[in-house]
Amino acid sequence: MPALDHQTRAVLITGAAGGLGQELTCGFAAAGWRVLAGYHHQLPPAATGVQPVRLDVTDTASVAEAFQTVAAQPGLAAVVNNAGLTADQPLWQLGEAEWDRVQQVNLRGVFLVCRAAAPLLAARGGGHILNLSSHSGRVGARGQANYAAAKAGVIGLTQSLARELGPQNIRVNAVLPGVLPTPMTAGLTPEQLAAFARANALNRLNDPAEVARFLVFLTTLANVSGQVFQLDSRVTPWT
Ligand SMILES: NC(=O)c1ccc[n+]([C@@H]2O[C@H](COP(=O)([O-])OP(=O)(O)OC[C@H]3O[C@@H](n4cnc5c(N)ncnc54)[C@H](OP(=O)(O)O)[C@@H]3O)[C@@H](O)[C@H]2O)c1
Repeated sequence: MPALDHQTRAVLITGAAGGLGQELTCGFAAAGWRVLAGYHHQLPPAATGVQPVRLDVTDTASVAEAFQTVAAQPGLAAVVNNAGLTADQPLWQLGEAEWDRVQQVNLRGVFLVCRAAAPLLAARGGGHILNLSSHSGRVGARGQANYAAAKAGVIGLTQSLARELGPQNIRVNAVLPGVLPTPMTAGLTPEQLAAFARANALNRLNDPAEVARFLVFLTTLANVSGQVFQLDSRVTPWT
């Protein structure tokens, strides 16, 4: 366990007040990171070393303003693009507004934040960008064409940026966190959740705290970039 020094290195987490965002915020803070907790509406958890930063990832002006705060302090060493949104509908009911909104939060937001973060990470000699994608983006999901397309885009963005930013020692990886009991899945019925659990070899959903532990661990790896990590037990063909 590294010594707690919230001044040495900072991580920006988007959507820090969400179900997974709260675990990430607490997990990184407990591991000694100073957390710049990007929040949209609701405030993120208050803890030692956690600084709330208002950040709407879809809005260029909001991203620029948040990064003024981030850049005013030294030590940005990692960014977690965690903000996300679903608006599930079958194709024939999927409106353009739901399509656009899901692309804006899940994909455009990651692009805007990566573009703003890369120069700061490069100036520090490198760092980590961790992008939350989804199993839906890998295999598709009925009723989630908008979300699956956006999350597949996150994987392409991750792999491209890993190549582009590697020379600046910036590692860029994607994480598929598994189905989590968070506000995002609160609308699912017990039967739907049970079906998701049954699709796993271990017959259970994932735990946000376990995802947070994995992301903190990823930041300790110096030589891994451009990879996609799935954190559940849904077994699919290796490609
Ligand atoms: N839960 C799952 O089963 C699951 C599975 C696979 C992947 N994921 C991914 O994991 C990540 C975290 O999901 P979660 O389950 O923690 O979802 P969640 O509880 O719904 O939290 C999502 C967070 O994103 C924020 N957000 C939405 N629009 C935003 C915007 N324009 N700018 C900034 N923040 C915004 C929300 O803030 P407001 O509420 O204030 O708007 C909220 O804090 C997401 O990327 C999600 O797609 C989740």
